[in-house]
Amino acid sequence: MSSSSARTPSEFTNPNLETLFTAEQIQTRVAELGAEIARDYAGRNPLLLCVLKGAFIFTSDLVRAIDIPLGLEFIAISSYGAATRSSGEVRIVKDLDVPIEGRDILIVEDIVDTGLTLSYLMANLRSRGAESVKLAALLNKQERRIREVNIDYLGFTIPDAFVVGYGLDFAERYRNLPYIAVIKDPSRQ
Ligand code: IMP
Ligand code: MG
Repeated sequence: MSSSSARTPSEFTNPNLETLFTAEQIQTRVAELGAEIARDYAGRNPLLLCVLKGAFIFTSDLVRAIDIPLGLEFIAISSYGAATRSSGEVRIVKDLDVPIEGRDILIVEDIVDTGLTLSYLMANLRSRGAESVKLAALLNKQERRIREVNIDYLGFTIPDAFVVGYGLDFAERYRNLPYIAVIKDPSRQ
């Protein structure tokens, strides 16, 4: 091994991160959620709607745990940008490419925090004539809720801390972590 590779800083073992859920814990929970969704939607061909960017890894694991025919679409909603608190402003940045009238929609989201994003999105999809609109969320920060949101399939409830990894970012960083972590000191990079 060259000495330069030994000095390469590892993102995955970054000392500023404290593991909240390991890759194994996440996989176990996602497999359970997938089995539950497959049972509930058997014979209905649901349309899964991945909310970009944060839910991209959760979605890719979840769809492989749902052993029934399904469709997959992507939507992008305005997010916090580089801040760790919601602005309360919700905007669709990338819309659906297909009509959803009469479809059973299952939104796949990384985290429900204030609930502003999801309450807006669910109302928006219902107004377009979806047959049903349900929500699968990997994480729930219940303490921070401003708008009521019913989570039909939930991975884990977490305390009010800013988390990263497994798709979730802090200023676009850390999405590639295979696990979920809390940033110990957000001012340190
Ligand atoms: P809400 O509208 O406040 O519920 O915000 C939901 C969105 O904020 C999520 O889809 C995430 O993109 C982002 N978000 C909220 N909390 C966190 C966090 O702890 N880490 C990373 N992103 C978060
Ligand atoms: Mg998100």
